[in-house]
Amino acid sequence: MPKKYYVIEVKNLTKSYGVNKVLRGINLKVERGTMLALLGPNGAGKTTTVRILSTLLKFDDGLVIVEGFNVAKDADKVRSVIGLTGQSAAVDELLTGRENLVMMGRLYRLTKRSAIARANELIEEFDLVDAADRQAKTYSGGMRRRLDLAVSLIATPPVIFLDEPTTGLDPRSRIAMWHIIKNLMANGTTILLTTQYLEEADQLADQIIVIDGGKVIAEGTAKELKGKVGKDRLELTFADDKALVAAQKVLGGDVTSFNQKEHSVTVAINDTNEDIKRALDIISKKKIELIAMAVHKPTLDDVFLSLTGKEKKGEK
Ligand SMILES: Nc1ncnc2c1ncn2[C@@H]1O[C@H](COP(=O)(O)OP(=O)(O)OP(=O)(O)O)[C@@H](O)[C@H]1O
Ligand SMILES: [Mg+2]
Repeated sequence: MPKKYYVIEVKNLTKSYGVNKVLRGINLKVERGTMLALLGPNGAGKTTTVRILSTLLKFDDGLVIVEGFNVAKDADKVRSVIGLTGQSAAVDELLTGRENLVMMGRLYRLTKRSAIARANELIEEFDLVDAADRQAKTYSGGMRRRLDLAVSLIATPPVIFLDEPTTGLDPRSRIAMWHIIKNLMANGTTILLTTQYLEEADQLADQIIVIDGGKVIAEGTAKELKGKVGKDRLELTFADDKALVAAQKVLGGDVTSFNQKEHSVTVAINDTNEDIKRALDIISKKKIELIAMAVHKPTLDDVFLSLTGKEKKGEK
C-alpha cells in the first residue's frame, strides 16, 4: 500500500521561549478536505502551533510539512498554499468593506471581475450588504469582525488555518461562518481550527486534539472523546417525595445522584436501550409514579473539564 498522504503533518514539534517550554513534542496529521480542531486551555500552545504551521514563527525541533512542503526550508512555498485567519486581518479603515474585499482579491491575483464577484458573495454570506459601501472605520465591532473574516477568505487556498475564527461573533454570524467553513471542506479545503467554543469543534471537526502545557493529552473524534470521559446518564423525575424515596430504594446501587427538590434521580447507563428498559421495568413493577425521563450524553465540555481540570475559557 502506498503511504497515506497527509496535507498537514507535524512530528515532535518543540518550541521554547527561554526556559519556558511552550510546545513539548506535538504530533498531528490532517487528511485532505477534513478539519482538525485544536482545543486546550489558555496558554496551552494553540496559537503558537498555528503560527509555526503558517510560517510566522520559527520552531526549535521537529518536522512540519504542509501540502508537501517543509515549513523550515520552503516557507515561501508553504505561504503560497495557505490562508490564515487570526485575531486581526489587514483591513484598511479608510476603504469601504467592498473596496477592502476587492483590493485583497486583487492582491491574491484574482482578475478584477472575479474579485468583484467574490466580494459580492462574501458580503452576502457575512450579512454586510447594508454596510458594504461604508468606510470600515464606521463599522460596529461585530461588523468589523465579519469583514476581517470575509477578507481572509477572499482567496480559497488548499489549506486554511483558523485561530479562534468565531470568537466575539454573535450567534447568527457564527452559524454563517460554520456554513462557509463546511462549504470550504466540501470543496476539498483542509482546515486546522482552534476554538474556545467546544460546540464548534463538535459540529465541524473530523478529529480533535486536546493540548495542555504544550503536549497532546487526548485525541480522537468528538464521539470517541465523549465515550472516554463518561457514560450516558438517565434522569428520572417522580411525582413527589414518597415516590422519590421508593425509587431510590428499588434502584439501589444504580443511583449516582439525586435531587430532592426536583424529585429526580440519575442512573449511569451503559448499553442505552437495555439499561433504560431495566430501570423503567423496576419502577413500573413497583407502581412508582414517573413523570419525566431524560437521557444525558457526555458533552465535549465534560471531556474538556475532565481532561484539563479547567472549564473552557470565555463562553458564558
Ligand atoms: N512571544 C512570546 N514570548 C514569550 N512567551 C510567549 C510568547 N508567545 C506565547 N508565549 C507563551 O507561550 C504559551 C502558549 O501560548 P499560546 O498563545 O500558544 O497559547 P494558546 O493556547 O493560544 O492560548 P489562548 O487560549 O489564550 O489563545 C503561553 O504560556 C504564552 O505565555
Ligand atoms: Mg491563542
